Amino acid sequence: MEDSRAYRVLVNAAAAAAAAAPNRVQVPFGGGSTGRPVRDSYAGACPSGISFILVLIVAALLTTSPLPLVASSPGLRDHWSLSRRLLSESTSGDAAASQHSVAQPAAQPVAHSEDPPYAYSVHGGDWGGVCSEPKSRFQSPVDIVLKDVVNVPALGDLRQRGHYPQVQANVSVYHNNHTFEISFHEDNRIRLPMFDVDKPYNLSDSWDASSYAPNGGSRSKPRAETFHLTQCHLHCLSETEIDGSHFDVEIHCVHVRHGGGEERESVGVWAVFMNRTTGGADCDPYLEKLLAAVPELLHRGPHDLFPVQLPGFSLSHLLPSDGTYFHYYPGSLTTPPCSEGLLWYVFKNPLPICDRHFETISDLVQALNGRKVQNFRQVQPLHGRVMYRWMDPKPDTEA
Ligand SMILES: *[C@@H]1O[C@H](CO)[C@@H](O)[C@H](O)[C@H]1NC(C)=O
Ligand SMILES: *[C@@H]1O[C@H](CO)[C@@H](O)[C@H](O)[C@H]1NC(C)=O
Ligand SMILES: *[C@@H]1O[C@H](CO)[C@@H](O)[C@H](O)[C@H]1NC(C)=O
Ligand SMILES: *[C@@H]1O[C@H](CO)[C@@H](O)[C@H](O)[C@H]1NC(C)=O
Repeated sequence: MEDSRAYRVLVNAAAAAAAAAPNRVQVPFGGGSTGRPVRDSYAGACPSGISFILVLIVAALLTTSPLPLVASSPGLRDHWSLSRRLLSESTSGDAAASQHSVAQPAAQPVAHSEDPPYAYSVHGGDWGGVCSEPKSRFQSPVDIVLKDVVNVPALGDLRQRGHYPQVQANVSVYHNNHTFEISFHEDNRIRLPMFDVDKPYNLSDSWDASSYAPNGGSRSKPRAETFHLTQCHLHCLSETEIDGSHFDVEIHCVHVRHGGGEERESVGVWAVFMNRTTGGADCDPYLEKLLAAVPELLHRGPHDLFPVQLPGFSLSHLLPSDGTYFHYYPGSLTTPPCSEGLLWYVFKNPLPICDRHFETISDLVQALNGRKVQNFRQVQPLHGRVMYRWMDPKPDTEA
């Protein structure tokens, strides 16, 4: 039982890593660039309360970390090898698909072997029996209740821990049958702070969330570990809520931390919200270039890569000028198999998004998931987890 659960985590982590693996970024562009219009426009179908949130998910293999997702038993190593094989098969399959999927209609997407089938329209944004973690307790997203948040100045400023160089060549964009995703080059990375835990979190139901605390371990100051960016993707509305309120959109960016071996990997999420503003925000020029690919993506199968040139773009561009953020652990993937053990970091203040970009994202999400269907999961119970916060001491009030 433990083995099969761990196996699913490995497969899932491999899928996350696959999303941004350099070999996938290099998949040849297979033509089919006739820019057909986005399928029926559902403009206006998204409620006005929708926000654009940007989330970065981080995944990592931990060999010496106190936060292992998977025990390093020989049996699990076998599973890991298997998941690596599945990953490479799936990757080459994508390469083949990308060469032959000219103008692939969105209605008949190519199946992706690591994605369990799920539908926001059927499961209402929660997954019930679809999730393969039957006893899961520490799930994401969550509602951040401000009165219960614990301030921890030692967590530090995330914006100063990132190494997000300017993009020199193309990024690749694609859809995964549910949302828009962006692959980045592997040299994007960030050092994410994490607390020590007395007892490693190992997917056991008996793990006590209170052991993950600023002073729970022998060291009081959180240490930081380096995670490598794999991909970013969008949710509309936001998945994370603050005091019960959604934002218009949420972007998740996935990072992976590889340990010294292949035994362990942990996953984390770094999130930023985006909101429309009453006066109407200016349209971001980088988002403009990324979203220009949407009509083409909708004619392609899931994970069929499409190159976009973003000269001068850096992920740092997406960090709010007020760097206040929330942190909790453990969290989970917000889609099946909902694997647990992710570290989550959610920036408090939304970036502005212009109405036109918001509508493009809303239309894309509905074209993939169904009319008036949004791709956010319901918030999940905390089950004893504590929400920590680093407060920006000098917020930029002009933001
Ligand atoms: C974001 O937008 C939502 C509704 O569109 C609104 O309820 C919320 O207050 C906004 N948040 C901020 C910080 O502007
Ligand atoms: C996981 O945690 C449980 C409960 O603490 C423990 O019984 C079990 O031995 C642990 N498993 C591993 C592989 O560390
Ligand atoms: C894609 O999503 C649709 C709608 O949610 C679903 O009906 C279909 O089975 C999915 N296809 C794949 C390959 O996951
Ligand atoms: C970027 O993509 C364009 C097509 O959109 C292609 O012509 C160009 O060669 C690519 N550049 C690099 C450096 O991959």
